[in-house]
Formats: sequence, C-alpha cells, structure tokens
Amino acid sequence: MIGNEYARRQIVFWLKDWKKGKKPLLIIGPPGTGKTTLVRAMSNDFGYYVFELNASDLRTREKLESMLSNISSINLYGQPVLVFLDEIDGIFSRGDQGGMDYMGKYIENSAVPVVMAANNRKDSMKEIFKKSIVIEFKRIPNREMELMLNHIAGQEHIHLTYDKIQTIVRESNGDMRYAINQMQVVTSEPIFKDRKLPSEEAVKGAIYSATYAESVGFISRWDADPELKIMITAATLFNSGAEDMAERAKWLSDADILMNRIRRLQEWRMLRYLNYMIAYVLNGLPGGYNEYLIPFTVINQRWKRPIYESITEKMEHELHVGRAEAVSIMVPMYEFLIRKGIIVNDDFKKAMA
Ligand SMILES: Nc1ncnc2c1ncn2[C@@H]1O[C@H](COP(=O)(O)OP(=O)(O)OP(=O)(O)O)[C@@H](O)[C@H]1O
Ligand SMILES: [Mg+2]
Repeated sequence: MIGNEYARRQIVFWLKDWKKGKKPLLIIGPPGTGKTTLVRAMSNDFGYYVFELNASDLRTREKLESMLSNISSINLYGQPVLVFLDEIDGIFSRGDQGGMDYMGKYIENSAVPVVMAANNRKDSMKEIFKKSIVIEFKRIPNREMELMLNHIAGQEHIHLTYDKIQTIVRESNGDMRYAINQMQVVTSEPIFKDRKLPSEEAVKGAIYSATYAESVGFISRWDADPELKIMITAATLFNSGAEDMAERAKWLSDADILMNRIRRLQEWRMLRYLNYMIAYVLNGLPGGYNEYLIPFTVINQRWKRPIYESITEKMEHELHVGRAEAVSIMVPMYEFLIRKGIIVNDDFKKAMA
C-alpha cells in the first residue's frame, strides 16, 4: 500500500496491542485511499477473522443487535474475531437513531476489536466520534500514485505511455481505486469498455444470448456487486424451472465459493472467472429475470415434527446460522431443493407431505 504512512502505522499498532477496554478505531478518509484494504490486510496478517457488517445489517437496531450480541471473541477455527463496520456514514445518515444508539453502547465495552470506516464526518456520528480513536486518511499524493501505477503496469505487462499515466493520475485526484479502474479501462478489450448494464438488462441479455461467449459479455458489463450478482442469479435460477437445475446450481455454488476466496485473498483479478461461471448458470435458462429469492412459505407447525427439528439443529451447527435463519431461510431452501429432486431425503420428503 502507498500513502498515509503515519496513519497506517497508528492503525497497525492499535491492533497489535489490542486488549479489551481499548477504544474502537474510526478511520475517516476519501474514497479509494485504502481504508477497507488496510483493515482486511492487517487483520489477515495478525490472524484475525473479520466479521464485516454491511449497510443492510446496520439499518435497524434489531438486526444489528441480533448480529452483534452473539459474536464470540473466537470463531470456530480458533481465530480471534475483529468486527468491521465499513462505510458507517452512509448507514447512519438515513435517520436511524436506534442503530446508532446501539452502536454507541456496543463499542464501549466490546469484547473484540471494533474498526469502523467512513468517508465523511457526519453530525449524526457524534457519539461514535467521542468514543473512538479517530484516524484520518488523506488522498494519495500524485507522485506515489504514479509509482504505484507503474509498478502495477510492470507486474501486469501492460504498456502505458508516460502521458497516459500522467493523465490517469491527474484525473484520479488521489483516489487509487479510480486510478486502477481507469488503467483497466484504457488497457482492456473493447467489451469491457462498453456501457455498464443494470441487473435486469444484464441477466436477460445473458439468458437470451445465442452463444455462451455473448452471455459472458453481458455478465461482464453487469453493474452490480459480485455478491448481488450471485443472489440475483440464484433467484433467477430457482424460479426458472430449468430441467438441468442441479447442474446449474452446482456452478452457482462454485461461484459462491470462489467469491469467498476472492474476498478473503483480495484476488480481484479472479472476478472474471466468476463472470464465466454466472454466464454458464444463466445462458439458455427458461423463464425470466427474478431478483427476489424463492417465495418460501414458512408454516410454523411443521417445525414441531421431529425430523424438521433435527434438520434445523444440524443446520445451525453445520452452516453456522442462528435458529431463526435456519428456520426461515435454510429449511425452506432445503425443502425447495428436495421438491425439485436436487437433494434426496425420503424421510424429510414424507414429513413435508
Ligand atoms: N493506499 C493504497 N495503496 C495501494 N492500493 C490502494 C490504496 N488504496 C486503494 N487502493 C486500491 O484501490 C482499491 C479500493 O481501495 P479500498 O476499498 O481500500 O478504498 P477505501 O478507502 O475503502 O474506499 P471507500 O471509502 O470508497 O470505501 C483497493 O482494492 C486497491 O486496489
Ligand atoms: Mg471502503
């Protein structure tokens, strides 16, 4: 990483010497300066498991509380846990005081290190500011950005003229993410330069493409987070009634596993393989776009049947989810897969009937 050497040093030392009772960390700084990257990288270096909460987890107090109150300080593999609340300014600005209040209390006596990051200082975050060690990130200086871009160009065997690099640096205005993306744009194949597509357009395009290669093009231009791509692909697949659903579902499952690795190892270049897999799931699918997960029906009396009980209990342990999630999401998913014949479990099928 480049830039903000002093700030980065403070952050790393904070984690190195962390013990219960220490104030949480709040990193404030402009986009693309490495806040998220640093937190993930140092956690990785120090052997922490990062429990990352996103905007939708933080929207309501109930959700936040249910996620945070159950965190243990060590995960199932014996790694210490670090809680990372990224982009908190975006979340708390939507006028949800309950979530903010809860956070304020949580960070005061958390049993695990808590790191937060944000772009701006917002008035609504006052309480959190008071209770945190605030560290500021600044834009990446041009000279350092230029060195980094040249370094990347060397590693990737990309040839860019001095002028091109200068232009990218100038236009990026200290945003390293933007600079790297720009570099990608000016060097890559025409298809990636094309207009970005909203979800529906991209998915439909991929489904109805005459060839697999064309599908890949649509998915590459799909303008959505990889996780969202996976969710929407799942919803679309499960609602399609495809004959070969099992095979497609296997590809989707592999894509999901790959995504996890990409995140964990920060191997963003692997994203293109994710696109290849998603295109495989979607190409030629009967039925159209669907962005809502399977319309499961949750019928409560069923949980009283012993086989449901035992399955739910297993799911809790094997899939590391709470009872509520097992009952409301995992079990209906399991039912669904059994109904489709993707999973065979005759006892369970009888209980369903
Ligand atoms: N200081 C840096 N040194 C090297 N690369 C960087 C740096 N900052 C950002 N990058 C590159 O930009 C990408 C995005 O950075 P990151 O997500 O860490 O930014 P951020 O500060 O969290 O931005 P945001 O405020 O938008 O969340 C990284 O994956 C990395 O490739
Ligand atoms: Mg970030």
